[in-house]
Amino acid sequence: MKKILILNGPNLNMLGKRDPKQYGSMTLADIEALCRDVAAEYDFEIDFRQSNHEGELVEWIQQALGKCDALMINAGAYTHTSLAIRDALELLEVPIIEVHLSDPKTREEFRHFSYIERLATATISGQKDQSYVLALKKLGEILN
Ligand code: DQA
Repeated sequence: MKKILILNGPNLNMLGKRDPKQYGSMTLADIEALCRDVAAEYDFEIDFRQSNHEGELVEWIQQALGKCDALMINAGAYTHTSLAIRDALELLEVPIIEVHLSDPKTREEFRHFSYIERLATATISGQKDQSYVLALKKLGEILN
């Protein structure tokens, strides 16, 4: 079974309450359940986590070294600010898929830059909860 670590950054625990036009109406628990259904189709074991803390995300990425077959990350606002998360991701030798519910490139200018995108095998954004489904499908193509 391939192991996929799915990391979610700050404020993603508030999905369901955040702007539904950008992020949809599903909660993070709903998205986790959706990911578990899709992962089962591909025989993936998933570890789905969320943190509001940059350092905790960095530690989880470091701990994933040599222990997962791919990583999906929606770093939330840290996408646009965190060199520390970028440097941790650079240590990984497995495919990284950058995920966003909204499409940051078509929103405010301060969301256009991503520290993660150059390290990512693919970026999937703008499809709300389906961005996670498409990211898992992409990993299905890459890993299986
Ligand atoms: C987000 C986009 C980011 O710009 C924002 O800060 C988020 C969520 C998304 O999934 O669309 O928190 O990563």
